[in-house]
Amino acid sequence: MSVFNVYPLYEVTPVSAKGIYVYDKNNTEYLDLYGGHAVISIGHSHPKYVEAITNQVAKLGFYSNAVQNPLQEELAAKIESLSGCKDYALFLCNSGAEANENALKLASFKTNKSRVIAFKNGFHGRTSAAVAVTDNAAIIAPINAQQEVTILELNDIKSVQRELEKGDVCAVIVEFIQGVGGLDQANAAFFEQLDLLCKANNTLFIADEVQSGYGRSGKFFAFQYYKLTPDIISIAKGMGNGFPIGGILIHPSIEAKFGMLGTTFGGNHLACVAGLSVLTVIEDDHLIENVNEMSAYFIKIANTIPQIKKTKGRGLMLGLEFDFEVANLRKKLIYEHHIFTGGASNKKVLRILPPLNIDKEHIHQFFDALVAALDN
Ligand SMILES: Cc1ncc(COP(=O)(O)O)c(C=O)c1O
Repeated sequence: MSVFNVYPLYEVTPVSAKGIYVYDKNNTEYLDLYGGHAVISIGHSHPKYVEAITNQVAKLGFYSNAVQNPLQEELAAKIESLSGCKDYALFLCNSGAEANENALKLASFKTNKSRVIAFKNGFHGRTSAAVAVTDNAAIIAPINAQQEVTILELNDIKSVQRELEKGDVCAVIVEFIQGVGGLDQANAAFFEQLDLLCKANNTLFIADEVQSGYGRSGKFFAFQYYKLTPDIISIAKGMGNGFPIGGILIHPSIEAKFGMLGTTFGGNHLACVAGLSVLTVIEDDHLIENVNEMSAYFIKIANTIPQIKKTKGRGLMLGLEFDFEVANLRKKLIYEHHIFTGGASNKKVLRILPPLNIDKEHIHQFFDALVAALDN
């Protein structure tokens, strides 16, 4: 049997990783400024994480959601304490797409409506409703096209108002910092008016924090830069530091009913301890403070490099925009300088998504390599 060939692959085979570095089968060391697509939050193979998962798998790796699992309550309490999102309820699943799928489904249940407003260049995943609200026709199959979705421009609040006032919209879903799209952000007035318009029109406001959440933006959630209250917050990537876990935080105004949502694997024992150990490390190692410090340091150096036309994003969810497409630059960085970076739908943007515990030495290593790669 062969592997279904859907990913264009770099010729690198990682076999181990520690902290900010990944090692391939020849023991070549790579600096990881991509975090496996914004997933590695506390660094590779963090000892507390390894210990927590190892101990749990030796005791009980999995049992179903038909029995008590106090680890889920513990995880919910810890997310509340670190995020400051008081009294939300937690539903656990396994990925970002699934988080958004459940968020959209819940919004539709709650409002008894079905149309969704999403935004240009947004990315929300590849499952049924999640891909339908993603602005990329190439990944929407005919079976997904049945969803009722209206894609609008970020910052165009008048169009949003016009659509919401038609009364048939169950949810607005938005990334506060676009990830896959290329690090664009709408302005504060737009986000805050969006929240008010949702509340006035019985539409749920879904904050897609799958990529921007868990401290990556410099706050626990990127929406916390604004004065607004999402009805549902979707989370995944940084949550498990590579262990597949996702979830939604649900505002107390939304009531649960048995059977409304469900999953076999979501919220299993191993996933919960992975999630708990990530939060413990974020707290104990003051990683959100580190994000802010390293972000400022990174941007300061980026601003001295003439080929970088714009630095986009926040925290350690950054994009460096050039006036040329960066595919070759990424190849040079990986093959000649052994540094992983990311690309975006905006082909002129190099994405920087490192583990949240990088330090200045790693930033210097990157910029020395970048300058060398740009010079030849
Ligand atoms: C903002 C956002 N939402 C949702 C997803 C989908 O997450 P997953 O790939 O875990 O399904 C992604 C993945 O890149 C994302 O960036």
